[in-house]
Amino acid sequence: MDLSGKHIVIGITGGIAAYKSASLVRLFVKAGAEVQVVMTPNAKEFITPVTLSTLSGKPVISEFFTANTGEWHSHVDLGLWADAFVVAPATASTIAKMANGVADNMLVTSYLSTRAQVFVAPAMDFDMMRHPSTVRNIATLISDGCRIIEPAEGELASHLIGKGRMEEPETIFKAVATFINQTEEINNNSPEDISRSSGELAGKHILVTAGPTRERLDPVRYISNYSTGKMGVAIADEAARRGAETVTLVLGPCEVSPSEDRVNVVDVESGREMLSACLDRFDECDVAIMCAAVADYTVETPSETKIKRENADIPEFRLVKNPDIAATLGKRKAQNQILVGFALETDHEFENATAKMKRKNLDMIVLNSLRDKGAGFATDTNKVTVFTADGDETAFDLKEKIAVAADIWDLIAAKYKCSKS
Ligand code: CTP
Repeated sequence: MDLSGKHIVIGITGGIAAYKSASLVRLFVKAGAEVQVVMTPNAKEFITPVTLSTLSGKPVISEFFTANTGEWHSHVDLGLWADAFVVAPATASTIAKMANGVADNMLVTSYLSTRAQVFVAPAMDFDMMRHPSTVRNIATLISDGCRIIEPAEGELASHLIGKGRMEEPETIFKAVATFINQTEEINNNSPEDISRSSGELAGKHILVTAGPTRERLDPVRYISNYSTGKMGVAIADEAARRGAETVTLVLGPCEVSPSEDRVNVVDVESGREMLSACLDRFDECDVAIMCAAVADYTVETPSETKIKRENADIPEFRLVKNPDIAATLGKRKAQNQILVGFALETDHEFENATAKMKRKNLDMIVLNSLRDKGAGFATDTNKVTVFTADGDETAFDLKEKIAVAADIWDLIAAKYKCSKS
């Protein structure tokens, strides 16, 4: 890949994987890019600035001032100079500083000043990687627009086996170079093309259901569940960020709302209203993700007036089944449409989830088990395993729901290239 004339800042932090940064610098230089290395003070314990300045052909920047000349290094100039800003390896500490704006070194200060796309390649011990604070900080970086180059599984510096090994320099290079080439292509397109082709969901129409439903007993009371809507809202936001042409979020009553302006919210209350809103839009959509916790039962005849306590009889309501929205759409699904469901289970998780996928004619089902701490309704995190109709299974770690949404879209994109036709 040719990166002639492109400016890459490579931020190196203090981890064992810093030795791999030398290869990363070489790959960018070989592709014709100009590389400026910025190191945290700790990084110098792991790799020498001499190696990196020799490979990059530029003095390495680490401090705000050069000690002997008093020359000031402008983090603002550096941030604005960059076409891409890559932090590799990114330690837990630097990730935390970036997520919280703790600008106490040249690397984080430049990060805060840059307008370029930032790539973060975490590298740390397995337990540090899955610690809730790291999970939270990485989720913050994602929502701030950084792209995370997920670490690989393998033997770590601690000799523990697990996730935390910095991805190989070739993979990091490829992610950054692909991004730069795509941006170049978009810049060469007309303004109308830009909004449509700025992501992997360009041109796609997405339908998402989220939140609980409310089934009325009387004008002031209802049956519902604990769903917060956060997972579905995160999925809709992520689709908008990935450039979907339209994103429709059919949302039951809840406190959350999408942060992306381009998500079109259709507010509904009951399961029947949710079905009707989905049927109105399903035929035009390319991918539908059923995230709502639709009440299984609704009240056959809700009271028109408020039920009074003084009434002699204790009221009795007959419940009837709510329509199964996912199954209804599953029956209607065309060859080129992708239908994804969720399954929240407490036991026999695998059997229940895969049976649901089959019964509802889904292409993919996202299982969360209430047995996993941090998964399910009332949390900001989730731990999911995704099954596909053709037998693939992918298990993910506990993550913030926005990071789970990104994983789900990654899988859909990889599996179906967002279109089965
Ligand atoms: N779903 C739906 N309409 C319903 C019930 C569920 O669209 N009336 C969707 C959910 O949004 C989810 C999937 O179907 O994508 C599975 O939902 P879940 O509540 O786990 O399954 P149910 O079919 O309701 O089965 P059960 O409650 O017996 O587990």
